[in-house]
Amino acid sequence: QLGLKTSSLGRNIHFEETVTSTQKIAHHLAYEGAPEGTIVVAEEQTAGRGRLDRVWHSPKHTGVWMSIILRPNIPPYQAPQLTLLAAVGVVQGIQEATGLEADIKWPNDILLNNKKVVGILTELQAEADRINSVIIGIGINVNHTESHFPDFLKNIATSLAIQKGEGIDRARLIQCILVKIEKLYGEYLQHGFKIIKLLWESYAISIGQNIIARTLTGAIEGKALGITDEGVLQLKSLDGTIHHIHSADIELTQN
Ligand code: BTN
Repeated sequence: QLGLKTSSLGRNIHFEETVTSTQKIAHHLAYEGAPEGTIVVAEEQTAGRGRLDRVWHSPKHTGVWMSIILRPNIPPYQAPQLTLLAAVGVVQGIQEATGLEADIKWPNDILLNNKKVVGILTELQAEADRINSVIIGIGINVNHTESHFPDFLKNIATSLAIQKGEGIDRARLIQCILVKIEKLYGEYLQHGFKIIKLLWESYAISIGQNIIARTLTGAIEGKALGITDEGVLQLKSLDGTIHHIHSADIELTQN
């Protein structure tokens, strides 16, 4: 139905009308042994999950709510690299399908005009020091109009259609994104994270900027220096200390 041009990603695809969360289904399929490249796509999620235990608003027929199962042979600490890889693939796929040029805000928010249009959630199934599978969840606000967003999201979220001024073909968008992610993933498995990191940095808006990072344990203010080879954010706080931030929300401050 999607007219896929990929060789492995999406060969095994599960379409659902309504699910609680495509992540939940993908976890289950991965646990049952689904092959690498298996994808779950739904028209609606009743309990879409965001990062940091948030809810991801996933109304019917307007978005792309999808989860991808990968089985890379890498140690668990390198898994954040795949989140960044997915973000690069989504930015490139959006560019190809719509011409819109989106920015990435570390770690994986994708923004248009400073409003969030895509969120990515990476989850692992690992045993001891071995990854069994990585589940990459991608949520894209595609054909939402302003009225699809609840009030608390109106100032911070947008959709591709709002930005483009016309409706977007979701099947083609998925196709374009999967082609890009498959290509990047092949590059990653063969040559490692180097090229992906450079690409990610070329789309990132937060690096070199003054930011506040809000983690679960508190806020740190300073300058975002870059990302490490593992995809972790390096932040130099006002007192000169270098912090490694694994998980946070960041906000750009006045520079
Ligand atoms: C974020 O908080 O920015 C990440 C949001 C990730 C949402 C996607 S939608 C498809 C997949 N299924 C979920 O329940 N969450 C992810």
